Amino acid sequence: MTMVNININGQKVSAPAGSTILQAAKQVGIDIPTLCDHPALIPVGACRICVVEVKGQRTLITACTFPIAEGMEVQTESPQVVKARKLVLDLLFSERNHYCPFCEASGDCELQNLGYRYGLDHWAYPTFTKPFPIDATHKYLFMEHNRCVLCGRCERACGDIVANHTLGLRNRGSESMIHCDANLRWGDSTCISCGTCYQVCPTGAISDKRTAYLGRDIQSEHVKSTCSQCSIGCGTEIKTRSGNVINIFGDWDAKVNAGRLCEYGRFEPLYDSRQRVTSPMLRQGGKLRPVSWDEALKVVADKIGGASAKDVGVLTSSNSTNEALYLLSALFCKELKTSNVGLLNSVAPKLADKPKGSLVDIISSDVILVAGCDPLKDQPVASFFVKRAVDKGARVIVVDDKNNGLAPFASQITDISKAVEIAERAENPAVLYGAGITEKAAPALKKLQGKAIFVAIEPGVNTRAAAAFGLNNGFKPAAAKVLFALVGEQKLEADVLKNLDKNAFVIAQASFVSPLTERADVVLPMAIWSERAGSLTNTEGRVLKVNKAVEPKGEAKPDWEVLSLLASKLGKKLGASLDEISSKATQELK
Ligand code: SF4
Ligand code: SF4
Ligand code: SF4
Ligand code: FES
Repeated sequence: MTMVNININGQKVSAPAGSTILQAAKQVGIDIPTLCDHPALIPVGACRICVVEVKGQRTLITACTFPIAEGMEVQTESPQVVKARKLVLDLLFSERNHYCPFCEASGDCELQNLGYRYGLDHWAYPTFTKPFPIDATHKYLFMEHNRCVLCGRCERACGDIVANHTLGLRNRGSESMIHCDANLRWGDSTCISCGTCYQVCPTGAISDKRTAYLGRDIQSEHVKSTCSQCSIGCGTEIKTRSGNVINIFGDWDAKVNAGRLCEYGRFEPLYDSRQRVTSPMLRQGGKLRPVSWDEALKVVADKIGGASAKDVGVLTSSNSTNEALYLLSALFCKELKTSNVGLLNSVAPKLADKPKGSLVDIISSDVILVAGCDPLKDQPVASFFVKRAVDKGARVIVVDDKNNGLAPFASQITDISKAVEIAERAENPAVLYGAGITEKAAPALKKLQGKAIFVAIEPGVNTRAAAAFGLNNGFKPAAAKVLFALVGEQKLEADVLKNLDKNAFVIAQASFVSPLTERADVVLPMAIWSERAGSLTNTEGRVLKVNKAVEPKGEAKPDWEVLSLLASKLGKKLGASLDEISSKATQELK
């Protein structure tokens, strides 16, 4: 890497060639203020707050766009620079309604912080009193145009990060406004509710309806974790206050998603209104009654321990952690020799021996084949990568599925042989495939081995780990005299319940009240996504850390802990601490 030597505020700085002044300064901890710039976005130099003095330059320079050059001398807080920044701030504060005490973002606003930093204690210019509208038609967000500084971060996030292109700018000068599509109300627009615009907005112009006014950053905690809503395993940052989850943000540092989240990951978990199971329960006299963990586990251990291996059935949700799936497999398959074991979702076949590439590499593909999966509907962040590739000129070929969510972005919907033929001619093809792949398509795609990037998009969250632990043997409900169902937050299909022996003894390890818990003889309350620690294996095979953000509700326990306690009751030593179980699980997944 070629390094370039410059001087900032008298300090020698060496930074990679191609860095901007802002990046070089950041590297050595020199803080140049920004507003329109964001590390995840392509810089545009729109707001001018980052101006710096560069020796030999005729005017002040925007640090966020200007590349460094050998011997450059930069001043970031000279009197001229400070005067210019104050002018920019005076103009921004006078342009719209920035009465901070009445703003949702007050305390967490980048504009307000800059006001304090540069000592703004009055309006230097008369304020522009034209009221702009508030668009509250969106399901989760509202747009307060009066607080907008027209930095364009939201527009670039919607286009360059998510490739959705809903947001744009209309009108000119002081009348300029962010708008949706051809000036539609936000709620009627093509917005897919990924919330990326909300995450990048520096002011109170875009706010979350549910959590507005629930707490400033300084009053909250942030915990990095992994989204448990689909197999992509996006990195998250969970904001909590007083034991409650307030927001879920995308983790900009996460390799899988680099800050992106979808509606399922960002908003839906916060709107889950299902009734929780909060204490262990045992059916007594035909009714479920709360009992202690010890009593419930003793009944479960007696039932399972007293049954023959062929009479025990195990069904699991792939939404379980690696640790829980490891314990389930070790206890039931290895120790108790249970073979009637199944997963609540199907598994994508293995098509490439040594899959090359990963999800993010899809962005640089020129032809993308989509077969047997619908990422736009089921794993939206994967579809953002595909749409981004389309923006850069890639062709999407959907195999035999005109209803696929990516069909509107496809240049062709065709049969497998034609699709493979096109991919063979491409320079850098990618194959996205899922469990819905047909018997004809699977062998045909194998022709692309070694040439294409293969990404299996598993339908369930932690399917890869469940399959690796041998938990997808094909479950036969009718054969189970004792059923252990680790469903967690997932729903059990009605036909599984319908096909169960009516005398079967049912143990439900579940987070929510459901037809399964209503049918169960023992219910073991399980912690949900925000209340558990452990790890998940995403669809690419990365083992990703899950961290607990809040305490489990009532007496609920994390999935792995319930199984560890049950194993002890059965006299099996499979690991007592999370660390011990994690390391055993990771070892086996290698
Ligand atoms: S929520 Fe996502 S899709 Fe909707 S406008 Fe914002 S960035 Fe665009
Ligand atoms: S809505 Fe927010 S991100 Fe978008 S231009 Fe206005 S201030 Fe910037
Ligand atoms: S794509 Fe999947 S893992 Fe990523 S945020 Fe959406 S639901 Fe969560
Ligand atoms: S941050 Fe550089 S011009 Fe806006």
